[in-house]
Amino acid sequence: MEVRVFETYEEMSRHAARMIAERIKAKPNLVLGLATGSTPVGTYQELIRLHKEEGLDFSQVRSFNLDEYLGIAGDHDQSYRYFMNANLFDHINIDKANTRVPDGTAADPAASCQQYEEDIKAGGGIDFQVLGVGGNGHIAFNEPGSSRDSRTRVVDLDDATIKANSRFFDSVDDVPKQAISMGMATIMETKEVILLANKAGKADAIVKTIEGPVTEAVPASLLQEHPNVTFLVEKEAAGKLTG
Ligand code: F6R
Repeated sequence: MEVRVFETYEEMSRHAARMIAERIKAKPNLVLGLATGSTPVGTYQELIRLHKEEGLDFSQVRSFNLDEYLGIAGDHDQSYRYFMNANLFDHINIDKANTRVPDGTAADPAASCQQYEEDIKAGGGIDFQVLGVGGNGHIAFNEPGSSRDSRTRVVDLDDATIKANSRFFDSVDDVPKQAISMGMATIMETKEVILLANKAGKADAIVKTIEGPVTEAVPASLLQEHPNVTFLVEKEAAGKLTG
């Protein structure tokens, strides 16, 4: 387990993008696990720059996103499919057919979740997973209390998460109350993980994640047991770390 602290969000983002670029150069058909939210936006901007200015080639890259709101279609401007297209896929040479986001409008969500797991396995598993962390320690939409054995499934969102995400909606009532999320077991099986965090609002979650006990009450803390994890933390988010 490695912890890197950065002076600025931009430095953190550049480092994350460089790691991803190196892995793609070493394995052009890399399977990327991707997150949405505000944290990885800088990383995605840097990947776009690396593609446009340095020719970073995504033509064979495949991706699986962590999560999607239930009941929201991919063309809704708050869907995570829309987010990924707007913030990354539309600006690089990835084949959209090779990009996967859970289907928030599947007629049979449980079957669709199981299929997502099977598709990850059939693709050889996720080589490199990008994660953010919620202020309550969630990763993907694995809220506190999520089982370490959980897999892609429909989950209820915490009130704290609904409130945090309401900034993107007209009102808190418009935020979906459920989502489809990769599970903790799915995430723990990925071959390499980076978790990104910035801003003081993440400092409590980060200290619990990295230095606290490993507990399902703080899902991100389970990553301490992942064999290849790097925490990339901007200095305000690292403010409470003692080590
Ligand atoms: C989104 C995801 C979430 C976010 C987390 C932090 O795909 O997996 O766990 O990473 O909610 O969100 P931001 O980055 O907006 O603070």
